[in-house]
Amino acid sequence: MIRDVLRMGDPRLLRVAKPVEIFDTPVLHALIADMFDTMRALNGAGLAAPQIGVDLRVVIFGFVSSPRYPNAEAVPETILINPQLTPIDDEIEEGWEGCLSVPGLRGVVPRYKRLRYRGFDAAGNVIDRSVDDFHARVVQHECDHLDGILYPMRVRDFTRFGFQEELFPGQALQDD
Ligand code: NI
Repeated sequence: MIRDVLRMGDPRLLRVAKPVEIFDTPVLHALIADMFDTMRALNGAGLAAPQIGVDLRVVIFGFVSSPRYPNAEAVPETILINPQLTPIDDEIEEGWEGCLSVPGLRGVVPRYKRLRYRGFDAAGNVIDRSVDDFHARVVQHECDHLDGILYPMRVRDFTRFGFQEELFPGQALQDD
């Protein structure tokens, strides 16, 4: 079921979400199904449970090609629960981001270029990956939602933050 996505300003987006304690339950599987339905309906690259008002440490992400990020490499479809992120080194990379909770806007956000992430899938199996570039960016963006952080809070150069239509005139508009 496609769920409403909360928009920045809703206080539920600012909570520190709670860990999932029991895996492989019908409620957890239904939540994840709704998250995929919602992400796909909006052409998102990822979605965090707090964005649909669910206060749990669950994110999903992944795409073969994203119309919202036409130049990004494919990222495997992933369910990541109770994630832990560890930067592999100190290198920071800047890149454009948008967010389904901040529709119509884009901004340049600094993120770690390489990181290791660990967590669990819906059945409770361990996930442990080392990734870089856009994959690393998406994970950092989605996991920030679990700590009540939206990407505009990380923008440092506000000359590179604004409405997509103004920043990228003439490009096809997406449901951002
Ligand atoms: Ni987001």
